[in-house]
Parts: sequence; C-alpha cells; structure tokens
Amino acid sequence: MPAISRPRGTDDLLPERFRAMRRVSDLGIEVAQRFGYRQLDTPIFEASELFVRGVGDTTDVVRREMYTFSDRSGRSLTLRPEATAPVLRAFSESQLRQLPPPLRLSYSGPMFRYDRPGKGRYRQFHQFGVEAIGEADPELDAEVIAVAWGWLQELGLGGISLQINSIGDGECRPAYREALLEHFSAHLAALPELDQERLRRNPLRILDSKEEGTEALLASAPRTEDFLCPPCREAFQRVQAALRAYAIPFEVNSRLVRGLDYYVRTTFEVWHEDLKGAQNALFGGGRYDGLAELLGYPPAPGVGFAAGLERVVMLAPPGPGLELPCLVVCSVQPVAVAAAIDASQRLRRDGLTVICDVGQRSLKGKMRWAERSGAEAVALLGEEEVLGRRVTLRRLSTGEQLGLRLDQVADQVRVWQRASDFGEGPD
Ligand code: HAM
Repeated sequence: MPAISRPRGTDDLLPERFRAMRRVSDLGIEVAQRFGYRQLDTPIFEASELFVRGVGDTTDVVRREMYTFSDRSGRSLTLRPEATAPVLRAFSESQLRQLPPPLRLSYSGPMFRYDRPGKGRYRQFHQFGVEAIGEADPELDAEVIAVAWGWLQELGLGGISLQINSIGDGECRPAYREALLEHFSAHLAALPELDQERLRRNPLRILDSKEEGTEALLASAPRTEDFLCPPCREAFQRVQAALRAYAIPFEVNSRLVRGLDYYVRTTFEVWHEDLKGAQNALFGGGRYDGLAELLGYPPAPGVGFAAGLERVVMLAPPGPGLELPCLVVCSVQPVAVAAAIDASQRLRRDGLTVICDVGQRSLKGKMRWAERSGAEAVALLGEEEVLGRRVTLRRLSTGEQLGLRLDQVADQVRVWQRASDFGEGPD
C-alpha cells in the first residue's frame, strides 16, 4: 500500500521549526502587549458568508482560494483564510463592544488558502496580527505599523521596507475607479486576459498587476493621491506624521492596493529584499472602516495588520537551538527500575529536564544514547546505589564521576552546566 503523505502546501512543524515559529510568534504577542494589545483567538472555521461578504467576492482569496465545505447539517463553512473578519465578528458579537474604544487585540494561528504552493507560500500557514477596533484616528494606523516594526526590529530582521498608500474611501474612490477604467479601456487590447478580467471585476486590482503587458501602461495610469478627497488626504498626512514621530522610514507607493476588498484609506505592506514577486510581503494591513456594516453589525472602524510567520521565520536570524535534556537517569540493573523512575520524578521537581532510561538495553548502549542526546550528565542507578540511596553522577564531556545523595544532584548538574556555558569542558 502506498504510504500516506501530508497534503500539498502544508508543512509539519518539526521540533526545531516549531520552536522557531513559537519564539517569533511569542515575541510578536509580547511586543503587541507592550502597546496594550491583548491576545484572543477565534474558531478555525466560520460561516462562509463571513468571508464572501467581508473579504469580498471579487477577490482571489474568495473566488479561488477558500477551503469551503458543508457540514452534516448542510451549513456552508470555510477554514479561515484570514482573521480580520473573524476578529471583527467576535468583537461585534461580544461584550468587547461595550468597552471604551479603541480595543486593541492580537492573534496568532493557522490560516488556510488554496494558493499555489511555493517558497514562502503554503495552503496552511500561520499569521500573527493585531487589530485596533472602534476608532478612526489615523494615528492608530501608525501605531499598528509601529507594533509590527518594533517586532521585526527585536527579531533583528534587516532588509525590510515599509510601503504605504491611501486608496481613498466611498467618497473619492468611485472617481478614481472611473479614471482607471477610462485609462485602461483605451488600451484594452494590449492588456493580458487576466488583467482584462480584473478591470471588469475590480479595476483597482490592476495596480497590483505583475503581468508584462500591463506594466508599461501602469506608468502613465492615474495615481491614487491625485484623487483623494480632503478628509482622506488629511488622514493620510496624519498617518505619515505619526510614522515620522515613531521614526519609522516609509515609502509612499501609489500602486499598493492589497488583495482584500475591505480596505479604505490607509493600506501598507512590509517587503523584504529577498522575497520576490507575488509573495514579497512579510506582512500587510490597512484600515477597514466599513467592514462591520458589511457583516451586518453596527459601525466599528478598525485598522490592523497580519504577518506570515513562515516568511518571518525564514528571514529572521535564527534563535537559540532546541533545549537539551540536562540529565539522563539510567537504571543499570532491573532491580533499579523503580528507583530510577522515582529519582527522575524527584529531579524534575528540582527543576531539571530529565530523560528516564529504564529500558532493557545494555549499559553501553544507554551511555551511547546519553552522549548523543547532548545531556550534561548521566545518573546511574544499580543495586549498590539503590541500597546506599545514592547515585553515581557522571559528567559526559569529561568523564568526571561522583557518588552523590539524590538531593545533591540538581545543584551539581547546574554547576557543570554553568561551566559548560562558559566553555569549560574537556581540553
Ligand atoms: P494578507 O496580505 O492577505 O492580509 O496576508 C498577510 C500576510 O500573510 C502576507 O503578507 C503573507 O506574509 C502571509 N500570507 C498570506 N498568504 C500566505 C500563504 N499562502 N502562505 C504563507 N504566507 C501567507 C490579511 O490577511 C489581512 N487580514 C491583514 C490585515 C489585518 N488587514 C487588516 N488587519
């Protein structure tokens, strides 16, 4: 029978990568916490309608990338492709709405998109993100960017650039759409098929095009900033002023439109020089002031970002390696099995990471295993040790050996560990 392998576009987070992802995610949660953002989580699946209405039925995410299924009672459910619509739903449905705004929330967890798998692109991936809900102040836009920026700085991630734009609002965007339509309709024949379709469904998405035929036409296309209404213009100025106050460098990129429909005014992405093409964004976000109404809730303006953890982990300098066990407790003879288990439990209570080896292997085999485990020391328990209520403790790097009472072991292992940390070991 053929072996069953993991689904395409998914990855097993083996211990080393799991630890790296966890470290990066925990640091994000911690940096966000320092700005007053509190962590929450929402279900992995939601009513499909949440994304169809929230993310928008003309977007690639909804049209091509959702994992949608019917449950046993025939409801259409979707594995969440993103968390902004779910977080806003959770906010709107709960007592969080009664708290004084803005509400600052953070999250970290798996998302699902039937995307074409590639470098930094998965079908199950992980996002860390924050949302500030309930106020429309442009300074909040800069604040969420500052959370993301602070996090990347603490990770020591260089080579990044922040791209920002304003795509206007319900007042000024229609005129911009018209201008885009007019510009590109005049050159329809020169547009690749995909962009002709974009133009029909959502003209703004054409700005994001990486198609060859379109690139040339984009240079002369109308620019968002020339169409912003006075309130949008003022908001965008305030975002930029606040970013300067945070001392965060940025580039205004009038082609930055983003792939989700709920954005108004500010949109932004952070790019990394090593990420190319369609997946060059480490994270993206923006303001979504009309989204709550689209979902059928009272108005609740908001702004946030989400970062792909796989991409951040791939580019960030590596963190510390896996934790190694401190001690391997070995029974040397069958009579010592119970004593070895008991000693291991005692030493774990003393704070050591203890592997208990009471298997049937030879002592030589057990010693070889302990050496490969990276442990600092081995505690041997045989008949003599059981009778004398002592253990033989051996430091693996030097062969040094001591007979100790059990209550002396943890301290001795720590002394050796400290010495090893300072590079004192075998000559
Ligand atoms: P997004 O741009 O669709 O925005 O995704 C954010 C980030 O998730 C991307 O920049 C990328 O790093 C990562 N990502 C997306 N798709 C994949 C994939 N297939 N494989 C690996 N990583 C991926 C959002 O999701 C919005 N909810 C962000 C937001 C929050 N806007 C406001 N608040």
